[in-house]
Amino acid sequence: MAAASDDERSVAADSWSVKSDYGSSALDDDQRQADADVAASFPATASDYSSDRDDHESDGNDVEAASMLGFQTYWDSSYAQDLTNFHHHGHAGEVWFGEDVMDTVATWTKDLCLKTETADISKDLSTWSVLDLGTGNGLLLQALAKQGFSDLTGTDYSEGAIELAKKLAIRDGFTNINFLVDDVLETKLEKKFELVMDKGTLDAIGLHPDGPVKRMMYWDSVANLVAPGGILVITSCNNTRDELLREVEKFNQKLLGIKCLDQEAGNETNNKEKLAFRYLDHVRTYPTFRFGGVEGSRVCTVAFSLL
Ligand SMILES: C[S@@+](CC[C@H](N)C(=O)[O-])C[C@H]1O[C@@H](n2cnc3c(N)ncnc32)[C@H](O)[C@@H]1O
Repeated sequence: MAAASDDERSVAADSWSVKSDYGSSALDDDQRQADADVAASFPATASDYSSDRDDHESDGNDVEAASMLGFQTYWDSSYAQDLTNFHHHGHAGEVWFGEDVMDTVATWTKDLCLKTETADISKDLSTWSVLDLGTGNGLLLQALAKQGFSDLTGTDYSEGAIELAKKLAIRDGFTNINFLVDDVLETKLEKKFELVMDKGTLDAIGLHPDGPVKRMMYWDSVANLVAPGGILVITSCNNTRDELLREVEKFNQKLLGIKCLDQEAGNETNNKEKLAFRYLDHVRTYPTFRFGGVEGSRVCTVAFSLL
């Protein structure tokens, strides 16, 4: 497979940074709320999902709002290049949002798991099953291993990412981390995890022209991957914390709607299985900037529990 050219990678990086700027400040929250409402009004049925491996037919507006980072072909090319760099120079590839954010996410998540009251989950971090969605080079899992987690799994839909993550884990002595190729939107995983991590993956999914539909599919899928009482930690630069909370609330309302239909049909067994995401906490230590009297930060990390 051809690796992404420098030009392609810089176009992608530009479009990421445009989206990042869009999502990073609280200045235009009303406009972004309006956009989120439009997105949430899309039906989240699997039949609406067109794989990004297919040719996508869309109008100009779709293309404008999307980016190459929403396509698997982009990531496959990018990781092919990263693998070449690893073989030639030992480089690990991109640390998305930087090493400081990665370290903050790992230490903050450890503290959160230790202080969260969960009836069924032990305080011993080594017993927590951890899944990193869209793990890329897998370095976040290495950072979590350094914090005491040891039941670690990383998935990515790009084979190149998983190959790179495996090679880096072996090189760095983290041979107990499991890595497998899996598309979070069509996951083959049947197991549930007590801690599910996402750093930049929902962002990437949302950049596909079918982003709004795919984001709803993402929530459906993740709700099946988090164990009851388990925790989901999302790190995003394309959404503010408040946007993520509103998106989760809309998803919960959808679940509730399904619950009501189940109740009307007298399907009690199903009702017991329907859980919803509750906001737990967010990272408060990221550097902030102030503009026009409004404060914002470049990135947010938000945790939800599934109760
Ligand atoms: C911005 S990168 C972040 C990588 C990694 N989480 C990190 O923080 O370094 C987004 C990742 O999500 C992966 N990805 C995007 N859509 C995916 C999907 N539907 N299923 C699995 N992985 C996906 C990409 O291949 C890429 O590795």
